[in-house]
Amino acid sequence: MFRIAASLLAVPALILSACGPTTSSEGQSDASQTPVERGQYLVSISGCHDCHTVRGTEPIGSAARPNLAGSDSELHIKGLGVFVPPNITPDRETGLGGWTEEQIADAIQKGLRPDGRILSPAMPWEPLYSHFTREDALAVAAYLKSIPAVHNRTPDPRGPDDTDDPAFLKTVPRRDLPPPPDGK
Ligand code: HEC
Repeated sequence: MFRIAASLLAVPALILSACGPTTSSEGQSDASQTPVERGQYLVSISGCHDCHTVRGTEPIGSAARPNLAGSDSELHIKGLGVFVPPNITPDRETGLGGWTEEQIADAIQKGLRPDGRILSPAMPWEPLYSHFTREDALAVAAYLKSIPAVHNRTPDPRGPDDTDDPAFLKTVPRRDLPPPPDGK
């Protein structure tokens, strides 16, 4: 497992590096764009791959880097715990296969999972994706439902781990959020 900083300060850099080699950029929303195409475009510029696809130099979507099938990196949030960006392909067992598009849009925009847990700031929904319009959040959800399902279980979140976080991680603002329950 690599460890990467979940500093919100790092997010703009993540986003700037988000334009992967296989991501398409259809440009602005126009009448001819389907929701799936719009969603693909939004995912390509919103940093989703930086966290939800394993890192590497191979093209996104190759066998080494299946599209959005979960990370190999841990994000440590001081006081909250350790989070591995999960598989967000439509696999029923290990991804979002059992979620509706409305539920996916709620997770992206409001940090709300179907089980009621609010996602930690390791997933930057509050500073970033809460600004999506509902239509765009649903377009992202439609795209996520359209991509190949990949069976890949990422580790569940772990509780607070205050022992060895380097000082720079302490720049992540603390939130009054409960730690994740056992078993996600
Ligand atoms: C900075 C890293 C990061 C970025 C960028 C990011 N995510 Fe996440 N995402 C996470 C982490 C970590 C979690 C799990 C957080 C938790 O369990 O509290 C998560 C959770 C999710 C979930 C809920 C899945 C589940 O099983 O609970 C969805 C859906 C999701 N992200 C979609 C997206 C989309 C779509 C984008 C781009 C628009 C995106 N994420 C960008 C890190 C990230």
